[in-house]
Amino acid sequence: MNILVTAGPTREPIDPVRFIGNRSSGKMGYEIAAAFAREGHTVLLVSGPTSLDVPDGVDFLPVETAGEMHEAVSTHIGRMQVAVFAAAVADYMPSKVAKEKIKKSAEALTLELVRAPDILGTCRSKHGFAGTLVGFAAETENLIANAREKLTRKQCDLIIANDVSKPGIGFESDQNEVTLVYPDRIEQLPLASKHDLAHQLVRAILMLHTEKSATH
Ligand code: C5P
Repeated sequence: MNILVTAGPTREPIDPVRFIGNRSSGKMGYEIAAAFAREGHTVLLVSGPTSLDVPDGVDFLPVETAGEMHEAVSTHIGRMQVAVFAAAVADYMPSKVAKEKIKKSAEALTLELVRAPDILGTCRSKHGFAGTLVGFAAETENLIANAREKLTRKQCDLIIANDVSKPGIGFESDQNEVTLVYPDRIEQLPLASKHDLAHQLVRAILMLHTEKSATH
């Protein structure tokens, strides 16, 4: 099968030397891409900037901004059976990028931010993607309720939810503890390394894809 995975942070430029970024290491997405490849699938990993090695047997498409990630996904989503959105995409980006480095002069500086494209949110509505669609929800409160809302709004088959307020899991960590939020049920997975967890997630996603294909 053809599988798309997005991973890592995005960088939204402010001027030629500065950007708005986030703490995503990309580890979870890279482990998922590697696990699908080990299962014999054809994987395209669209990734923001990380310090990770590209996993063996994975096609790699590096991007920087949410706009570039959106364009890459728009180009390739049409031939995918499964898409997993593990990237921590900026929700807002500077409304304009300064051509030259912004000098410090005034005591305060106001940046205007505008919404970045919701890449996962446009998969069904704009691109008519009919395959298995999986998103992540990194939350600091109301984990399940927020994940459920995302599941519906972004028309996903599964949201992988993690509580990023818990110490030692999620962003920048090698471990993660997630809850799988399906339309009709939830499943809590125990704390595990991102490597081991990726295998469980891939198994769950493939099972979901098989069920979905059987009913369509
Ligand atoms: O809305 P929120 O950012 O919490 O949703 C998280 C999910 O949506 C993740 O799967 C993330 O990869 C995806 N996303 C996206 N484009 C955005 C924001 C989030 O694809 N601009």
